[in-house]
Amino acid sequence: MGRLDGKRALISGTGGGIGRATALLCAREGAHVVGCDLHAATSAETVGLVRANGGRMDAVAPVDLASEEGARRWIEAAVALAGGLDILVNNASAIRFGAIDRLSFADWSFTIRNELDLVFLVTRAAWPYLVAGGGGSIVNVASISASRGAFFMPQNAHGAAKGGVLALTYQLVVEGGPHGIRVNAVSPAMTETPHTAPLLEDPDGPAARIAERAPLGRWGQPEDVAQAILFLASDESSHVSGANIPVDGGAAVVG
Ligand SMILES: NC(=O)c1ccc[n+]([C@@H]2O[C@H](COP(=O)([O-])OP(=O)(O)OC[C@H]3O[C@@H](n4cnc5c(N)ncnc54)[C@H](O)[C@@H]3O)[C@@H](O)[C@H]2O)c1
Repeated sequence: MGRLDGKRALISGTGGGIGRATALLCAREGAHVVGCDLHAATSAETVGLVRANGGRMDAVAPVDLASEEGARRWIEAAVALAGGLDILVNNASAIRFGAIDRLSFADWSFTIRNELDLVFLVTRAAWPYLVAGGGGSIVNVASISASRGAFFMPQNAHGAAKGGVLALTYQLVVEGGPHGIRVNAVSPAMTETPHTAPLLEDPDGPAARIAERAPLGRWGQPEDVAQAILFLASDESSHVSGANIPVDGGAAVVG
């Protein structure tokens, strides 16, 4: 028995990192996964990995979820492929960093569009299907950056966007409750993915300090985040809505 047997799980940004790990885990637990990504090649790699492990996965790529048309196209294609929708994981994001006096408005806007707008657009497109199906589980991938600054990265737009993702999560809890829709978030701290590997591998970079700040003494792996997402996606969390699970080695509660 898998923990997601019979579930249809839509996961955004399955071309890498946390999205790929979540697709592999959800499929291993019995879900029919439909992913998507901006990049067709990495998306197809994940589909291949899942199927090689005996899992069920399709994907739509390339698709840009930061456009109304792209978000709608993914959801409609995914629902058609899977025959419905029980779980939506809003994982995809793209970021541009910059200190406040150097961050261009274009880079700020890019980040808000690709970290916050896309969660709104995808969720809005998926909502009628969740309502029609009698409910479901939405898991938003936020960040520890939603609630604190970072010493190693000027993340003005990123923190603001992820704060918005959390605020949106809480409003959707209220609107989803009567329909049986649960909405939760996970907030990873530094996690080793293709996106962050160059920073962590830089001998002059902040890797050691990042690990030291977490009481558990290491940064995260994509599978650490995927496990928290799995719990919130599954019926094991059937009375949990509005939670924000930190996946940070304990860093969030240390002064
Ligand atoms: N890695 C970390 O340290 C860390 C920490 C906190 C939060 N997070 C969050 O976890 C999530 C996954 O992070 P990751 O490190 O695995 O990122 P990643 O960059 O490795 O993967 C994100 C995927 O989303 C895709 N994507 C980006 N914009 C898209 C768009 N507009 N349409 C479709 N696909 C798009 C990318 O192509 C990529 O494959 C993100 O929401 C990120 O903000 C990551």
